[in-house]
Amino acid sequence: MSDHTFPTSSSYTDPDSFLGPDSFVGPDSFTDHDFEFVAPGELGPGQRWSTWDDIGVLAGPEPWPDWLITADAAVDTELGILKTGKEADVFLLERATPDQSCILAAKRYRGYDRKLFHRDSGYQEGRKLRRSRDRRAAAKGTRWGRSVEAGQWAAAEFGYLSQFASLGLPVPYPVQLDGTEILMEFITLADGTGAPRLAQTRPDRFRLETYWEQLTQAMSVMAGLGLTHGDLSAFNILAADQRIVIIDLPQAVDIVSNPQGVEFLARDCRNVCAWFTARGLAADADALLADLVAQAW
Ligand SMILES: Nc1ncnc2c1ncn2[C@@H]1O[C@H](COP(=O)(O)OP(=O)(O)OP(=O)(O)O)[C@@H](O)[C@H]1O
Ligand SMILES: [Mg+2]
Repeated sequence: MSDHTFPTSSSYTDPDSFLGPDSFVGPDSFTDHDFEFVAPGELGPGQRWSTWDDIGVLAGPEPWPDWLITADAAVDTELGILKTGKEADVFLLERATPDQSCILAAKRYRGYDRKLFHRDSGYQEGRKLRRSRDRRAAAKGTRWGRSVEAGQWAAAEFGYLSQFASLGLPVPYPVQLDGTEILMEFITLADGTGAPRLAQTRPDRFRLETYWEQLTQAMSVMAGLGLTHGDLSAFNILAADQRIVIIDLPQAVDIVSNPQGVEFLARDCRNVCAWFTARGLAADADALLADLVAQAW
């Protein structure tokens, strides 16, 4: 898939330079393992060692998909920015070993520009920052506070993605969470290019119906868990050929415990119904809402 040079070197030349005096290992032990030593300088610009195994990095739900690269000797290469959003930027990243590679979407929450943070506090009701130091910092909008908030949004989105992916809902598979960065499955068309947002597409009647079917089915499962997306529209749904994939989930709302829960659900219903109706499939937002409310209680 890629033609970038993979920095491998099988030559560890001087074991004493990286083994301390207490870590003497007999010659036999060396032959037990496939030892590879790669000097840090061999990584090119825009490359890093795979962070998959780093301390503090949370892995996505098991079973891991077979395309996922879990080797810690993998290298991540930045491929550039896919899209700048209001709270986060989405980059493309290739994670590769010498014989396997996959492209991932890296969603990185920005922690430094409060003006760009548009999610209103309604989403946050019922969620508390545990450490009072973090709470005060977030309230004051200090640099630290903003990075705490960005990490919170990332963790919230990763949590919902994990929960929904485990249930087989159409969301990108969440690969890992590392602070303010989520790595997830890159949703593509058959030709490998990024899938467009539903809003950019003009599906024919048959496809429109299958999209509607998939979407309302997913919304119904979410409602059964007591949840709604919270910012659902044709802009946060990707159209990947015959299937739709729901993205951008940090603000999912608990329909029951959030005092504005039903309002968020109603708005999600209105947004998607308006889009389907405009494309020629009459969709009744009130009927959908009633249906989903019944799932939640
Ligand atoms: N997993 C993915 N696969 C393919 N494309 C993606 C993926 N995640 C995000 N994108 C693209 O990046 C865009 C922004 O992602 P997302 O909506 O999650 O972030 P955002 O910061 O909320 O953006 P916005 O403010 O535009 O809603 C999406 O509209 C989509 O085009
Ligand atoms: Mg979005």
